[in-house]
Amino acid sequence: YALAGLNTFGMQVYAARYATFDREEELAGLQQEPAAAAGILVLGGGSNMLFTGDVPQLVVHNRIKGIVKLREDGQHVWLQVGAGEIWHELVLYAVAAGYAGIENLSLIPGTVGAAPIQNIGAYGVEAKDVIEAVRYYDIASGAFTVLGNEDCRFAYRDSIFKRELKNKVIITAVTFRLNKIPVFNTSYGNIQQELDAMGVTELSIRAISDAVIRIRSSKLPDPREIGNAGSFFKNPEVDTDLYLALKAQYPTIPGYALPGHITKIPAGWLIEQCGWKGYRKDNYGVHKLQALVLVNYGGASGQDIADLSLTIMNSVAERFGIQLEREVQII
Ligand code: EPU
Repeated sequence: YALAGLNTFGMQVYAARYATFDREEELAGLQQEPAAAAGILVLGGGSNMLFTGDVPQLVVHNRIKGIVKLREDGQHVWLQVGAGEIWHELVLYAVAAGYAGIENLSLIPGTVGAAPIQNIGAYGVEAKDVIEAVRYYDIASGAFTVLGNEDCRFAYRDSIFKRELKNKVIITAVTFRLNKIPVFNTSYGNIQQELDAMGVTELSIRAISDAVIRIRSSKLPDPREIGNAGSFFKNPEVDTDLYLALKAQYPTIPGYALPGHITKIPAGWLIEQCGWKGYRKDNYGVHKLQALVLVNYGGASGQDIADLSLTIMNSVAERFGIQLEREVQII
């Protein structure tokens, strides 16, 4: 089964076995299926994966849809959303309904079920800020479990679903708590500047969503045009002493202070300093407007891109003494 249209890197690889499911009931007995003997790989939007070859496992494509309003009070509304819903469509739904909290997360590729796995984040907001609970199917036991926000152990681009529960569960639904009274978050980077450029005088969640869409479209390649999986690396969090030592040497190095004497440094800056921004070899390379994004110009091999990522990591380690970590899952 061709996976080319099912991963945003556009890798032309094949799955030995492939199945879709639209309802939770279809998952019963999945583990016992003969097709699952080589293991199971769950696919949502395929927006955080780099395939380096054909996939021997049973690829199951999560297509569970639906947005259900569970309850509301004067301040909040609780939505239960099927894991197969497209993330950006949920954002557009919420913006149209006047439900605040995810407008800063506009235009992130992928599905709702993928959002908790890596705790998607952008422009000062993370999925963990609005996720109340995650419902999943345990492949081994066949049981459904609901995990509350705390138990998901969310951290920067991280959660229990990338750790203990990795490859063991299938997320089927996510419950979000959104705000009927918006709290605008325009402090990150150039959101305010973009709003000014748009001539926005009265702030609204729609204006913020539009601003984020404009910023993202201007810097990040559209996966329908150029294959990519967003940020390929995480922004490293280093001891502030190391950051200050680097700052003495490289006065322009950006850094965001975090609690606990930790500083987060944009990996894009480190990679750009090493000369990789806009690098191109044959049909793959580093995006010319954002060094954190590796791209497939068409027909590239996943292995080449994985190798390039390692070369970049080594080059950043050598120059700055910082070990980058990949955000994208290599399969
Ligand atoms: N920078 C450079 N060169 C580059 C890219 C960035 O010098 O090529 C420096 C600049 O100083 C810039 C700073 O990095 O001011 C921050 O850049 P940007 O605002 O583009 O954000 P980022 O830190 O590179 C993170 C997320 C993105 C998210 C944006 C906006 C990670 C790994 N990435 O990128 O998330 O959209 O912030 O919030 O945390 C993703 O995860 O796939 C993703 C796109």
